[in-house]
Order: sequence, then C-alpha cells, then structure tokens
Amino acid sequence: MTLEPIAVTTPSRVPENAKPASWERKHLLGLEDLSREEIESILATAESFGEISTRSRKKVPALLGRVVFNLFFENSTRTRTSFSLAAKRLSADTQDFTASASSLSKGESFIDTAKNIEAMGADVMVVRHPTPGAPHLLAQHVGASIINAGDGAHEHPTQALLDILTIRRAKGRIEGLTVGLVGDISHSRVARSNIWGLTKLGARVILCGPPTLVPRRLEQLGCEIAYRLDDVLPRLDVVNVLRIQFERDQRAVFPSIAEYFRLFGMTQERIRRGKPDLLLLAPGPINRGVELTPEVADGPHSAILDQVTNGLAVRMAVLYLLSGKSDAHGPTLD
Ligand code: NCD
Repeated sequence: MTLEPIAVTTPSRVPENAKPASWERKHLLGLEDLSREEIESILATAESFGEISTRSRKKVPALLGRVVFNLFFENSTRTRTSFSLAAKRLSADTQDFTASASSLSKGESFIDTAKNIEAMGADVMVVRHPTPGAPHLLAQHVGASIINAGDGAHEHPTQALLDILTIRRAKGRIEGLTVGLVGDISHSRVARSNIWGLTKLGARVILCGPPTLVPRRLEQLGCEIAYRLDDVLPRLDVVNVLRIQFERDQRAVFPSIAEYFRLFGMTQERIRRGKPDLLLLAPGPINRGVELTPEVADGPHSAILDQVTNGLAVRMAVLYLLSGKSDAHGPTLD
C-alpha cells in the first residue's frame, strides 16, 4: 500500500492589523499597571486574532520556536487550557508544570523551581499562585516574560480583558456603561482586575453583595458599593456574577446559600426587571442555583461561553505582544 503524502500548506499569516504601533511591556502582572492605551492595544490585537480561530487550520507561525510554560500552583480549568491552546495556535512549544506533582513537595523553593524552568529555555511563564504578588516576585528573578494568571485575591488580568472584550463586542463600547460585579468581591481577583480595566475605559462599576463580602475601601478605586441587588439592577447594562469562594474563607459570611440566592441570585425574574439588553457574564466555574439559575446561565442574555471564546483570542494577543520582549528579537509576523 502506498501512502499518499499529506498536503502541507504554509500557515496563513497573522493579520496585518494584529501589530499595535508600539508595545513596550515585558510582563503582564495586572491591569492596575496598564494605561488605557495599552488595554486598548491588547483588545485590538485580540480582535484581529479572533479570526484565526474561525479558520479550518487554526494556527499561525508567529511564535514558532518560542517556549511557553504554564506554572499553576492552584487549580484551573479554563485559564490553563486557554493559555495552552493560545500558545499552540501561535506555534509555540507549551509545557505544563503542576505544583502537586513537582519537587516543591521535596522542599525546592518557588524561585528555584522557576529558575530551573528558565534553564530549559522558557520565554514566557504563565503563573497562577495563591499568594498575591507571586508573579511580581518571579518577574524580579527570571528573565522570561511573566503573565499573571491569578495571584490570590489580587489580580487576574486576562480574565478581566476577556470580560471587557466580551462586553465591547456585545455593546459596541465600554465608555458610559454601568457594570455590576455581584457576589464575593472580597476574595475575587477577577473583581479587582475588572475594576481597574473598566474604570480606565470609562465604565461605571457597582460592587454588589453582602456587606461581609464587599469591602467599603474599594470605593477608593472609584466604584459604587451596593448591598441590595434589586436597588441597582435597573441601572445595570452588564452584570458579572462572581462565585462565592468558599475555599478561601471558612467563616460564615452569610446565613445560608438559600438566603444568598434570594438576595443576590440572578433569576429569570431579575432578568425581566433589568434592562431589556442586560448582558450576563460569569468568569466560571459557575455554581448553578447559587449565583444564578440554569435558565439564566443558558438563556439569551448570557455571554458565558462567548467569554471562553474571547479568552482564547485575548491570551493569543497577550502571548504575542509579550513574547517579543523576552529577548532582543520581536515576534515574527509571517
Ligand atoms: C476565576 C479565578 O480563578 O479567579 N476563575 C477563572 O479564572 N475562570 C474565578 C473563580 O474561581 O471563581
């Protein structure tokens, strides 16, 4: 039997408009550090990368030969797989590092582990860690570009960027919108990154949840605080429901899940009382029956799966923009 050679086609080029006029940053540690222009550059790059995922051959050679390591010290479904797939779509080599299966359990330090990974040629390290500031520490000790994939309750910049991209695609703008972040604000890195990103782009942010989970001091970041969802619901263009992070706080922060759901759960009834084009987001994982009902999660106002699709484009954009800064060469645009 003769084997037919497989037709090898040259992968299509990265869209020309993927390259912003200038990009100077080596790391993405949080949205607090970024200017409005930098956030807009990432969103514009993500918009042009979105198209690659609609091709039958979903791959471009932009980061061919680059090495992207995922260092996850906390569990993840979406973020880790999304970064891996994004790196593969750009033709980078990807490697997962899982803390529980590593020599950390033999006493090796976080920095030593990262230095060993760097010695294997990592150009980019995508880091998730329970300690706020862990990615920042790594950025001071290794030469690779560092992307914060969530550090404790501090920041989760790519999640906020994909939330913002999803809002902008649905509404056509961010400026002037009112966005409610509802739920466990205290423990949410998603909330903090959303606050920085949305306010820089001109949205009004309302933080809403039980007083035990919504710190008053966040008002200093330019947000409004509300303890009753029904009072603010009619003003919202977007509602982003955040999971109660029971794993981070064992105290009783509200009387019961049933009570929480009654006051803050997104139900069909609340959707009806909101604006007709109210957009519903959730970073996931979602807990049906706690933050929202199954009908709302799967209903016409929900953009939860669009967020996942847009997340891939955002992570491609971030990898593309940063990886050119990990050495003297820019990313290849062919
Ligand atoms: C979020 C996280 O890890 O901070 N999830 C995510 O990245 N999609 C939110 C959460 O865990 O509830």
